[in-house]
Amino acid sequence: MAKARMNLPRLVVVTKDPDTQRLAQRYGEEVFGADDPSDALDIIRTVNPDLILFDYRFGPGQFDELLVKAGQEIANVPVVVVGDESGASAEFLEAGAFGYLQGNKDFGQMERIISRIENESNAIRANQSQDTFSAACPEEQAGRFFAEELACSVSMVGKSSAMLSSLRMIKLVAGSRCNPILIVGETGTGKELVARAIHNLRHPNEQFVAVNCAALTATLLESELFGHVKGAFTGADRDKTGLLELAGCGTLLLDEISEMPVDLQAKLLRVLQERNFRKVGGVKNIKCKATIMASSNRNLKSEVDGNRFRRDLYYRLNISPIVLAPLRSPERKDDIKLLAEYFLRTSSICPEKRDKVTSLTKLAIKNLEKHDWPGNVRELRNVIERAMLLETTDKIGLSGIVLDPTDCGRASESPAAGLIKGFSLANAERELIARALKETGWQKTRAAALLGITRATLYAKVKQYNIAKDAHCARGTDELSASSLHEAATC
Ligand SMILES: Nc1ncnc2c1ncn2[C@@H]1O[C@H](COP(=O)(O)OP(=O)(O)OP(=O)(O)O)[C@@H](O)[C@H]1O
Ligand SMILES: [Mg+2]
Repeated sequence: MAKARMNLPRLVVVTKDPDTQRLAQRYGEEVFGADDPSDALDIIRTVNPDLILFDYRFGPGQFDELLVKAGQEIANVPVVVVGDESGASAEFLEAGAFGYLQGNKDFGQMERIISRIENESNAIRANQSQDTFSAACPEEQAGRFFAEELACSVSMVGKSSAMLSSLRMIKLVAGSRCNPILIVGETGTGKELVARAIHNLRHPNEQFVAVNCAALTATLLESELFGHVKGAFTGADRDKTGLLELAGCGTLLLDEISEMPVDLQAKLLRVLQERNFRKVGGVKNIKCKATIMASSNRNLKSEVDGNRFRRDLYYRLNISPIVLAPLRSPERKDDIKLLAEYFLRTSSICPEKRDKVTSLTKLAIKNLEKHDWPGNVRELRNVIERAMLLETTDKIGLSGIVLDPTDCGRASESPAAGLIKGFSLANAERELIARALKETGWQKTRAAALLGITRATLYAKVKQYNIAKDAHCARGTDELSASSLHEAATC
C-alpha cells in the first residue's frame, strides 16, 4: 500500500474492519492492530504509539472505558475515532477523543489531525530540546523562536515586525465576536496556522474543520458544506451531515475561498447573514453557531473586479482581515534565519540527524535571505529538509542550500530544448506544470486540461512543488503581492 505523504512513526488501530486497518497502514510507519479494546491496552503500553485509531463501532462506552483504564499512560497520546459519515461525534469528543473521522476514507481530516499532532509535538520539542544555540532555561528556548506564548502554542515562529503585527491582530480578532474572519496571504505564509491559532484562543475545546474550496466540484462542495438528506440527488442513499453542522460551536475554515463557485458564494452569504441553513434537499432550518473563517492566496478585490467573486460576499468577509506578509518582504525577512534554524531543530524528515546537523553557516543564511521565496515558509521548510537529508557534517553550508532549480528563461523553451536541470521525474513534472501554467497565463482550468489532469490535482501539484509566478517573469494580476494584500486589507 502506498503511504500517504504525512505519516506518523507508530500507530495502534483498534478495529476488526480491514478498511480501517488499511487507513492505519496508510498513515503509520509501524502499525499495531488490536481486534478489540480489551487487547488494545497491552499493545498501547508496550509500543508507546504516536496515535491511536479507535473504531466507533465499539461504541462510546468502550471508548471511555479504554481511556479510563489507560489513564495517565496515554494522557499524551491522541486518540482519534474512526466514525461514519453521519458524524455522530459528540459523545466521543466529550469522552476525550482528539478528533473524529467521517469514515475510513476521510483522508483530509486525518491529514489535518496529523499536522495538528506534529505542530503540538514540535512546540513541545522546541521547548524541551537542549540544543547548542539555545539558552539553558526552557522559557528562553521557547522565546528564541516564538514571540510569545500564543505563538509557541501553535508553533508560529517569528519575531519580525510583520509577525508581531499579525500576532496582535490574531489576538484582537480572536477576542472579539468578529465572524466571519478573513485570512489572506500568499501560498505558504501560514494562513492555516493562523486559523488554528484563532480557533485555539476562541474555542479550544470545539471542533476545527476545514475544506479546500478548490479541491471539490460545485455539487460536492455544496453537499460537503451543507450536508444532504437521503434522496436529494442520485446517489444520496442516506443523510449526510455537512461541515457547517459538524463544526458545531467551533470553527469552519473555507480554504481558497476565491475558488468557490459563484452560486455557492450566494448560499454562503445567506448563511453568514441569517446564521442558519438547510441541507441539500432538506426543509428544516439548522442553526449555524460556528466561527466561519475564509482564507485566500488571491487578491479578492481583483477577483471581485474580474466578476469572479461576489462583491457583497467580499465586503461581508473583509471586516478585519488578517494579512500575512510574504517571507521576502522587508518586514518579514528577519524571520528567515529563525525559521531555518527552527526547521533544523524540529524536522521529522530524518530524526537521527536532528542532533547531528545543528546549524547553518553564515553564507548559507545569507543565501537564504537573498532568495525570493515564492512558496514562502513551506518552501523554506522544504529547502531546509532537503539540505538536512544531504548533509554529512554538523553544519549546512552554501552548497547544501538547493533553491528552486527552475528559471523563467527555460520555462518558455520547448520540451525538447534541453535536459532538465537536476534530471528527475519530479523535476520534469514540476517543469511541465510550470510551463503549462505560464502558457495559459495561469488559468488553472486550461492548464489542467493541457496537462490532462483535474484542477484539484493541479492545485495539489502546484502546492507540492511550490510553483508560483516568479517575480521576474509573470507576476500577474491575480497573485497577491505585498502591496496588493495591504490594499485588500484596507479597502
Ligand atoms: N510562522 C510559522 N512558523 C512555523 N511554521 C510555519 C509558519 N508559517 C507557516 N509555517 C509552516 O509552513 C507550512 C505552510 O503553512 P500553512 O499551510 O499554514 O500555509 P497557507 O498560507 O495555508 O498555505 P496555502 O495557501 O498554500 O494553503 C506549514 O507546514 C506550516 O506549519
Ligand atoms: Mg492553507
